[in-house]
Amino acid sequence: MNKHALPELNIWLTGASSGIGAALVQELATHGHRMVISGRRQQALDDLAKNWPEQIHTAVADTTCRDELATLSGQLDHFGDLDMVLLNAGTCEYLEVADYDSSIIEANITTNLLGTARCLDIALPALRATRAKGKPATVVIVSSSAWWFPFSRAEGYGASKAALTYFAHSLRADLAAEGIEVVVVSPGFVKTPLTDRNDFPMPFMVSAEEAARRIHQGLAKGNREIAFPRRFTWSLKVLRVLPQGLIDRLAAAMARNTDNHA
Ligand SMILES: NC(=O)c1ccc[n+]([C@@H]2O[C@H](COP(=O)([O-])OP(=O)(O)OC[C@H]3O[C@@H](n4cnc5c(N)ncnc54)[C@H](OP(=O)(O)O)[C@@H]3O)[C@@H](O)[C@H]2O)c1
Repeated sequence: MNKHALPELNIWLTGASSGIGAALVQELATHGHRMVISGRRQQALDDLAKNWPEQIHTAVADTTCRDELATLSGQLDHFGDLDMVLLNAGTCEYLEVADYDSSIIEANITTNLLGTARCLDIALPALRATRAKGKPATVVIVSSSAWWFPFSRAEGYGASKAALTYFAHSLRADLAAEGIEVVVVSPGFVKTPLTDRNDFPMPFMVSAEEAARRIHQGLAKGNREIAFPRRFTWSLKVLRVLPQGLIDRLAAAMARNTDNHA
């Protein structure tokens, strides 16, 4: 991959109808890329696509549903060989421990881990066909930096993103021999409809447009790990090296503060 600018690519982008995904549509379309964009809401996809009718094809699919993905698979080569999949669709459901309910854990794991894994059922054959022609092929997985610290109420979300990151790194090892790259994106807080629901302080939050720029720049530089904003991710990296007992005390104090705040 070129270190400074991406060549014009054919991309499948999931979770395109809102937030970071919608901002990525604008960022990538402005730079000439062609995209199959998907989500569950046709109208939201159409609203985005109308600005770049030559470059965007919309397809509705729930990423947790194998049948809907199978229907979408025939559209991945709408613009020609698929060069990149950007698996961004995700959710965040918080657990209220007083009303402990494992369906919260299941909802996060189903969308964030299994949904992403299911997308690869249809994406990998298309990317392999591209590699067979000697061209680069890339899987980009939008995870999160939230799981780097045991945040209050994030049992389901953090576990799903920790698992997703492990999945991505393991996949990177297995696909290396085929020359298919795997990129992991680990954002901090980004202002989107997902975080607009939050009722607690979100330090160093960036806009969805800034997040899309950071992801695009990271891809153009050929980075395999894209984490931002640096002030947030470095703070978490420092916390991670503390002894577990200290991490536990900090996390419990933050949980008490969150309870007071809510
Ligand atoms: N915002 C943050 O602070 C932040 C931080 C770290 C990581 N992230 C990650 O970034 C990604 C995008 O989040 P966002 O903040 O932009 O949230 P968002 O505005 O709620 O967007 C989520 C997107 O995912 C799609 N989606 C959700 N469930 C889906 C499903 N089952 N099938 C198909 N599409 C589905 C939604 O589309 P439909 O509703 O049309 O289906 C929507 O386009 C997520 O993976 C999230 O975990 C976000």
